[in-house]
Amino acid sequence: MRVFAPGRVNLIGDHTDYVGGLVFPMAIDRGITLDVLPVSNRIELRSDRFDEPALIDLPVANASAIQPAWARYVGGVACELGATRGFVGHVFSDLAIAGLSSSAALEVSTALALGYSGTPLEVAKACQRAEQAASGVPCGIMDQLAIASGVEGSALLIDCRSLEVSPRPVPTDVEVVVVDSGQQRTLVGSEYALRRAQCEAVEAIVGPLRDARLADLDQIDDPTLGARARHVINENARVVDFADSLESGELSTAGELMVESHRSLANEFEVSTDELDELVAELCATKGVYGARLTGAGFGGAVVALAAPGALTRGFVVRASDRARVLD
Ligand code: GLA
Repeated sequence: MRVFAPGRVNLIGDHTDYVGGLVFPMAIDRGITLDVLPVSNRIELRSDRFDEPALIDLPVANASAIQPAWARYVGGVACELGATRGFVGHVFSDLAIAGLSSSAALEVSTALALGYSGTPLEVAKACQRAEQAASGVPCGIMDQLAIASGVEGSALLIDCRSLEVSPRPVPTDVEVVVVDSGQQRTLVGSEYALRRAQCEAVEAIVGPLRDARLADLDQIDDPTLGARARHVINENARVVDFADSLESGELSTAGELMVESHRSLANEFEVSTDELDELVAELCATKGVYGARLTGAGFGGAVVALAAPGALTRGFVVRASDRARVLD
């Protein structure tokens, strides 16, 4: 049995999903393939990227201590699904760079390889719980839901409160380009959890950030919390404007919104780095580039750019692709 789960790139709307906000990712034409045979009582998976295999006895009681660390995402899904039948085989990945959700793609492909047949939303929720339990990172649902619901040729406007997914065609006269900053990172041990906690602290004062207005932030004394909240409120508005701009072919406006998003992630949410800022500036100074921003959690990893076809010779073009699926 072969299953494929795409990675994802987020065009705009970062650090909004875990407070019921709006995001605009797309599943991409790169991802993780599992080539496996079913067996009882265990998972044995060899990776083309890591030397140590995942050797996991089923059922899994606690995935967080599994070694090597990459195997935790596999064990987390097995634990979440209560799997007693597993598989033996190989995992191949072309999601080498941080920021394209390789962990979520591994989770979703594992769920399919274990025979889970829930709806895309059920798959996404199970895999989000698996990631949280296995890694300790309180991630939102964007990555798993984008990977489980991708639509060829479309980016996905996702309302992380209602969990409604609205595919929006990506114009064909524009390229989405991913460029690696070269700065490695993992969310484990990052300030991701702190940022989420700061947003929740704001919500304890002003109520759901999704409904909050900038004027509500007058109630917040702590300038750091105020800045975090401003990012979320403005970013939600940018997602709507970006989706509309893309739909009406106003690519310069869409690009400007990406740059504003990056600036807000850097200055208000403080999840950018010097390397990411420099890379975004360099890309934006290139003829034919409409805009660029960090994508995903930040702290390193990848940058996404919107550009006229052929304008960028670095990085790689990604195409909006279909959801995770069983291949054969
Ligand atoms: C990571 C998380 C997502 C989301 C992004 C930031 O990718 O897994 O849930 O919070 O960061 O937008």
